[in-house]
Amino acid sequence: MTDTLIRVRGLSKTYVEGESPRRVLDQVDLDIRRGEFFVLLGRSGSGKSTLLNLMSGVDRADGGAIWVEETQVTGLDERRLTLFRRDHVGIVFQFFNLIPTLTVMENITLPLELGGRARKAAEAQAQALLERVGLGDRGNTFPDKLSGGEQQRVAIARALVREPQLVLADEPTGNLDEETGRNVLALLLELTRGAGKTLVMATHSAEIVPFADRVGQLHDGKLTVRSIDEKRVPTMA
Ligand SMILES: Nc1ncnc2c1ncn2[C@@H]1O[C@H](COP(=O)(O)OP(=O)(O)O)[C@@H](O)[C@H]1O
Ligand SMILES: [Mg+2]
Repeated sequence: MTDTLIRVRGLSKTYVEGESPRRVLDQVDLDIRRGEFFVLLGRSGSGKSTLLNLMSGVDRADGGAIWVEETQVTGLDERRLTLFRRDHVGIVFQFFNLIPTLTVMENITLPLELGGRARKAAEAQAQALLERVGLGDRGNTFPDKLSGGEQQRVAIARALVREPQLVLADEPTGNLDEETGRNVLALLLELTRGAGKTLVMATHSAEIVPFADRVGQLHDGKLTVRSIDEKRVPTMA
């Protein structure tokens, strides 16, 4: 088993807007280590979501390759991509993306039940996670009755319920006030990096940088990576 969880080589992606092509990722190379907290930093439109979506196989690259462990994600067909995502990747979004017609508990058990887990076992596992994110008594509530911070905690529980090695978070604090955002970051880090999982987070906010192991800055399709020497650990308010 190597130290590297994600290997990106020569990754390119161009979108065509009207007549003119726009090269969002231009021959990007990147290695992300197992257990690392890697922050993707860049202005709005710099390609952060594009890179995350290529890693999870939601979007297709024009050139280059991505491996997650032994799996070449860029070579999978749709069916295998769906299974790869379900079994190996947890995703957290800026706008939470909870299903409004399902309860909190049902939102979290859904990925388990899609994977064939029996209802009772799924609920026990979801309840344990709900308690870890501080919402043990909210399982029967519907998402629209929760605050933004609480919805994001549910979304984190949902992302982690299949125990993926890799968690991708796209501006997970972008829709929260400062203090709530800090608490969500602390929780997310505790449950991922703190548990030996790998967390890749896209953000346009430099405030997250001191907590990262390494930061990749996207600009004009190129990625520049640096290490954070004096790393801080976020604490919950
Ligand atoms: N599906 C798409 N079709 C056309 N252009 C897109 C598409 N998705 C993203 N883009 C463009 O690619 C660029 C990078 O987008 P994105 O990865 O979402 O940036 P970020 O997440 O850093 O804000 C933007 O200019 C955006 O308009
Ligand atoms: Mg984005």
